[in-house]
Amino acid sequence: MIFETVTTTGGCRSYVIGCEATCAAALVDPELGQIDRYIARAARDGLRIRYLIDTHTHADHFSATQQLARQLGVPVVMHTSSPAPFVDLRLRGGELLVIGKLRVQALHTPGHTRDSMCLCVEDRVLTGDTLLIGGTGRTDLPSGDAGALYESLFEGVLRLDPALKVFPAHEYKGRSHSTIGQELAENPRLQKSDRSAFIEMMRSLNLTMPTHVTEALRTNMTGGKTVAQMLSEASAGVPFMSLGELNARIESRSDDLIVLDVRERDAFEQGHISGARLLPRGQLELRVNEELTDPTRRILVYCEFGRVSTLATATLRQMGFHGAVALDGGMEAWREAGYTVKAGKEP
Ligand SMILES: [Fe+2]
Repeated sequence: MIFETVTTTGGCRSYVIGCEATCAAALVDPELGQIDRYIARAARDGLRIRYLIDTHTHADHFSATQQLARQLGVPVVMHTSSPAPFVDLRLRGGELLVIGKLRVQALHTPGHTRDSMCLCVEDRVLTGDTLLIGGTGRTDLPSGDAGALYESLFEGVLRLDPALKVFPAHEYKGRSHSTIGQELAENPRLQKSDRSAFIEMMRSLNLTMPTHVTEALRTNMTGGKTVAQMLSEASAGVPFMSLGELNARIESRSDDLIVLDVRERDAFEQGHISGARLLPRGQLELRVNEELTDPTRRILVYCEFGRVSTLATATLRQMGFHGAVALDGGMEAWREAGYTVKAGKEP
């Protein structure tokens, strides 16, 4: 078996499980920001990814399974109770996935979430957020249930072979893995084997919310896009102009450029780039035909931080303004660079 751990942001871990004999592989808990890394790792190991598995609905990172599934043409696998509409293969507890000569068995282990699974393969178990090294997954996020976690642990995972290696979906201290036996002996959360005491302990943890929890749940549960994805997709099809280049063009008074400010009117009047025209992003599609009559013109679009202008430039290009360019940076960076700012209404 080829087995590789990929550490991603905030202590999250993804795993590549590959069959040496057939080069088939599964990727477990991939994160959106690391897509190129997974594909590169699999290629380096001579593996072809056949399955994209999420051990559960993640609340703390953006799952890459849906996007990788589209890119690679392979199925997304989750537990049958997953709310995500893009899951192609829904497993029930006890079922196996065949990856070349490997057999990966799913155990349904609700508690951290209702759809949590652990995955057993050969000498190890990928425990998702059900069992962590020296800890357990939290049970205070949507669909979490401390009583269910107790049963999943004490009547499920912890009854597995004590020699099985434990590979969790999170590890904050850089430890590679532990074993079921080690966790039974040392994990402080497992020392209360009384159900009500365990539930009480889980309830009293008082953990802070993970960052981006709303956005992670929204995208992971619906298959919708993150804000960063929207921006990166827009910027992939848009050329940019540097602040210095724009400043030089304004100073040389080469008037081949329409400079378009897509912020709101009050921001424009407080300070804009000299010669700019105002067309707020919210009105772009509705007013574009009056404001920009020549689709062959070169149009430089800017906003406050350089994000909304990227989206606006992508929209303009979709509408046929192939000369639309986004400013690399926004008004904030323009001011910081010390370039001239003009206040007041449009001329
Ligand atoms: Fe989780």
